Amino acid sequence: MESTNSDNQLNSSPEKQKWCIHQSLYEFHGFWFTKAYLETTKRVVETFKPLPTDVILASFPKTGTTWLKALLYSITHRSPHDDTVLTLNHPQELVPSLETNLYVRKRDGETLLHDDVAKKGRILATHAPHQILQDALNSCDCKIVYVTRNPKDTLVSLWHFLQKSKEFEDDPWELEAAVDQFCNGIVPFGPYYDHVLGYREESLSKPHKVLFVTYEELKENPRVHVKRLGEFLGCPFLGESGEEQAEKIVKLCSFEVLSNQEINKSTEFPDSGFPLPYNSFFRRGEVGDHFSCLGDDMIQKIDGVTTLKFHASGFHY
Ligand code: A3P
Repeated sequence: MESTNSDNQLNSSPEKQKWCIHQSLYEFHGFWFTKAYLETTKRVVETFKPLPTDVILASFPKTGTTWLKALLYSITHRSPHDDTVLTLNHPQELVPSLETNLYVRKRDGETLLHDDVAKKGRILATHAPHQILQDALNSCDCKIVYVTRNPKDTLVSLWHFLQKSKEFEDDPWELEAAVDQFCNGIVPFGPYYDHVLGYREESLSKPHKVLFVTYEELKENPRVHVKRLGEFLGCPFLGESGEEQAEKIVKLCSFEVLSNQEINKSTEFPDSGFPLPYNSFFRRGEVGDHFSCLGDDMIQKIDGVTTLKFHASGFHY
């Protein structure tokens, strides 16, 4: 059988870019990945077959994935008598990520974990760009929820998150370099702008399949968007009891409540082998936090790129 361009790129040596001092990023179909994520993302592209009943939560890192994991799980597993799920489980464990949990090789061998997830009503998360995963995502009627966030808050959140990693202890990622790299697209799963636009375009052309929501609008009016999510996923919040349920979900998934659950404050490392502890997914949970650490020149630089990249599509930040 003849090999296609896509096959060639799956198998060939990727272009490499220096990112942080000890780390390089590798190019795959116009996006950048750490070595570990390159391997698992390729495996996802090669083997992942969504089911029509799947809900795929897609996001660029640090845009509110953990929050959406808690929300989507709560919306689709409503139980009026049980509030303990989010008390006992970290959202990262309730909704596994394709690249981080399911298509990694187990430490002890070759087995892939993707069969461990129940087949019906799955919610699966991915950071893979739509441009890369579109064949799989379009192969059936699965639903996609994409969350995005202001690029400056996203970068600042990523920057803080990575500082917690052991690898960065002796080798800090300078904020100025981080801003330059982010603007040039050199960031894991980046360019951020292409990532956002890929899913946004899809949501505009297939609104029944892809729901696009921003971190900021969720913060501003969570109940409206929880109800919107319920409707989109085929489990609307109806009547007075629906309103109460939506309100309850908003509260249980709020930053204040979630970040204070013992499991989410834990400094334990997830079983999945993820290199950062459970508590690293909760920091400040605010809109506009970039003002606390980005200088005016950095803000101007990112704003310039944001206008350039998003303007033509009619999307604004
Ligand atoms: P900050 O670092 O700005 O605080 P992700 O889950 O995609 O990794 O994103 C992490 C960001 O979402 C962090 O932002 C984290 O604090 C914030 N976050 C986590 N849970 C949240 C919640 N329930 N509500 C709002 N923000 C939340």
